[in-house]
Amino acid sequence: EKGGYDYFMLKEIAEQPKAVADTLLGRIDASGSLTLDEVRIPASVLREVDKVVLVACGTAYHAGMIAKLAIEHWTRIPCETELASEFRYRDPILDQRTLVIAISQSGETMDTLMAVRHAREQGAKVLAICNTNGSTIPRESDAVLYTHAGPEVAVASTKAFLTQLVACYLVALYLGQVRGTKWGDEIRAVIRELSDIAAAVDTVLETMEPVRALARSLAEKNTVLFLGRHVGYPVALEGALKLKELAYMHAEGFAAGELKHGPIALIEKDLPVVVVVPSPRGRSVLHDKIVSNIQEIRARGARTIVIAEEGDEAVVPYADHLIRIPATPTLLQPLVATVPLQVFACELATARGNEVDQPRNLAKSVTVE
Ligand code: F6R
Repeated sequence: EKGGYDYFMLKEIAEQPKAVADTLLGRIDASGSLTLDEVRIPASVLREVDKVVLVACGTAYHAGMIAKLAIEHWTRIPCETELASEFRYRDPILDQRTLVIAISQSGETMDTLMAVRHAREQGAKVLAICNTNGSTIPRESDAVLYTHAGPEVAVASTKAFLTQLVACYLVALYLGQVRGTKWGDEIRAVIRELSDIAAAVDTVLETMEPVRALARSLAEKNTVLFLGRHVGYPVALEGALKLKELAYMHAEGFAAGELKHGPIALIEKDLPVVVVVPSPRGRSVLHDKIVSNIQEIRARGARTIVIAEEGDEAVVPYADHLIRIPATPTLLQPLVATVPLQVFACELATARGNEVDQPRNLAKSVTVE
């Protein structure tokens, strides 16, 4: 049932183009608009929403961090993302005009379920983004948008994460569409680009052999750092989480702008540092700042592993290892930038002799608080 792969995780990484395409299927109509009727929250209700709160755990929380940037940009609705386990313990401000979005692959994560219950008790509307039909979180929510990743068996989340991102983009774009914002043209353009995104993920998968070789060469290291900005920051956190849970290595993700506020003291000779570089188009200021960060850490001896868009030549002189990803709209970049980090962690785990599908101390769904 592993379909010829050694591990479910490898199979599930490979299934990502299909998972992404399936999650989009039937949700973009012939005119290039989104139809999310299945969500069953009337447009009139969505137009009244004045705050969005995303709650989730672990990898799903990283999807929520990216969703915040997309929702605020395309809808101008103030939005926050919170760890589900922290949410109800801090007396959050919620009312009838708050839309809470709970993201969960399993639909059974107790921390997320408790956040959902708390939100509904306060009168907020709850939309679940979930991969498991009929599970508890969608049943207890007002509405659900299912991700169509298919069953995810490996404990470490891969294809579920990419489809959570797709679902978040759909919600963000849909909110923008029903409310009408100044980004109408951009929203239509991004919806068109989403149709090509599965092919872009496939392109990344075809070029992963050097990433595997690199991972094997780092099997004896103790620490790997990950840096990113904007949507690249949650991607950096996700890369670090994958490495912790699979390779049992010390790994940390930082917002690259924070380097100079402390973490740069960690940089020493031969320390592997993975940098997720924003597109040189789009937010080019961020791109240039990250290139300076790469220069700085390399001058201090770091071994730089740079994930950058095809055609980005500015990074070449400072990259000890360069991983290319296809150009995408800025906010969609996590769909392609995360894939090499999944492959990297999986290969490092194998090289260290770890059980890839069943990492120690972890369970696929965490049904206790
Ligand atoms: C990491 C991982 C976990 C889950 C988290 C939430 O690879 O799988 O961090 O993402 O436990 O699980 P769900 O999405 O089922 O609520």
